[in-house]
Amino acid sequence: MLKSTLSRRAALAGAVGLAATVAVPAHAQETFKIGLIVPMTGGQASTGKQIDNAVKLYMQQKGDTVAGKKIEVILKDDGAVPDNTKRIAQELIVNDKVNVIAGFGVTPAALAAAPLATQAKVPEIVMAAGTSIITERSPYIVRTSFTLAQSSTIIGDWAAKNGIKKVATLTSDYAPGNDALTFFKQNFTAGGGEIVEEVKVPLQNPDFAPFLQRMKDSKPDAMFVFVPAGQGGNFMKQYAERGLDKSGIKVIGPGDVMDDDLLNNMGDAAVGAVTAHLYSAAHPSAMNKDFVAAYKKAFSNRPGFMAVGGYDGIHLIYEALKKTGGKTDGDALVEAMKGMKWESPRGPISIDPETRDIVQNVYIRKVERKNGQLYNVEFDTVPNVKDPFKAAKAAAK
Ligand code: PHB
Repeated sequence: MLKSTLSRRAALAGAVGLAATVAVPAHAQETFKIGLIVPMTGGQASTGKQIDNAVKLYMQQKGDTVAGKKIEVILKDDGAVPDNTKRIAQELIVNDKVNVIAGFGVTPAALAAAPLATQAKVPEIVMAAGTSIITERSPYIVRTSFTLAQSSTIIGDWAAKNGIKKVATLTSDYAPGNDALTFFKQNFTAGGGEIVEEVKVPLQNPDFAPFLQRMKDSKPDAMFVFVPAGQGGNFMKQYAERGLDKSGIKVIGPGDVMDDDLLNNMGDAAVGAVTAHLYSAAHPSAMNKDFVAAYKKAFSNRPGFMAVGGYDGIHLIYEALKKTGGKTDGDALVEAMKGMKWESPRGPISIDPETRDIVQNVYIRKVERKNGQLYNVEFDTVPNVKDPFKAAKAAAK
């Protein structure tokens, strides 16, 4: 087993033009290495920081030895640029001989690493990115974040059933934005709703102002918004500056735009926004209260949903390693992860053994001010939601 792992790595090293692997003595396997690849700089830096914080917090709480192995995390900043992700993943697999790669702040980064995970048989734990197809790109991918389809179908149903007839959409122009739009539209129009305007905004440094004017002119009851984590603050600032809050156009969407990380600084324009999402810092479980308190104490800020994806991702790695009895073989680890169930700060979750994707509750929440602070207050729950994209494909078979 060890021999074949080494020869695969040597082949990968050859393929990428790096030095061939030298034989590793058995005792070197006492360390279990996790290559954590996240954006720590650039527009998506808040995602990387939340994940890095959460992984550190988890390891501080649970210790750094699992099944006799010392856990070592090697943190790398890819700036959410997929070419960087690929180069870094190669170096981590070939030179550092990591047992797992994890993180992936955006979809293009998760996709860029997928062929390497397959070739080296190294598990790729997606803690952030949310496009449905990601888990289909390698049998070594397991996801602890979410899919946009999970939240967007549910807010589509909710909007159609709650008196919203006309919606203008504003989505970030890349894969997860397209998933959000497709799945929202599908459910909202099936429920009788109408889309009156559709705009796509660039992913990098978007200026929302011209698009917001178009939204306003189309006079919708609500605007459906998907922008990735980290952009919600800027979006809501421009939304308020353009007076959309005053014109009665409600914000709805997946919860990314109302990330708890930024929500408290958005001001009154955010009050009343209804979103469907996996996590709220106000989730009223004992476990979440402890998680929020510990995170705040350590990092002086609230955790957002990206922090929870990281916290659950490192938990999944710890538990899989326990289940294999310390066996670090990639196939054994992925097998151990399939079907795993646990309580997360977000609520009960599991890994679908068929798809390796997360199954979780989706909560419908409204932004409210409580004791002077803004929170996404959950008022309805759709339990155990599988990724609708894959569920539809399975049903059609
Ligand atoms: C993604 O690129 O898949 C992504 C990033 C941030 C989000 C959601 C999806 O909030």
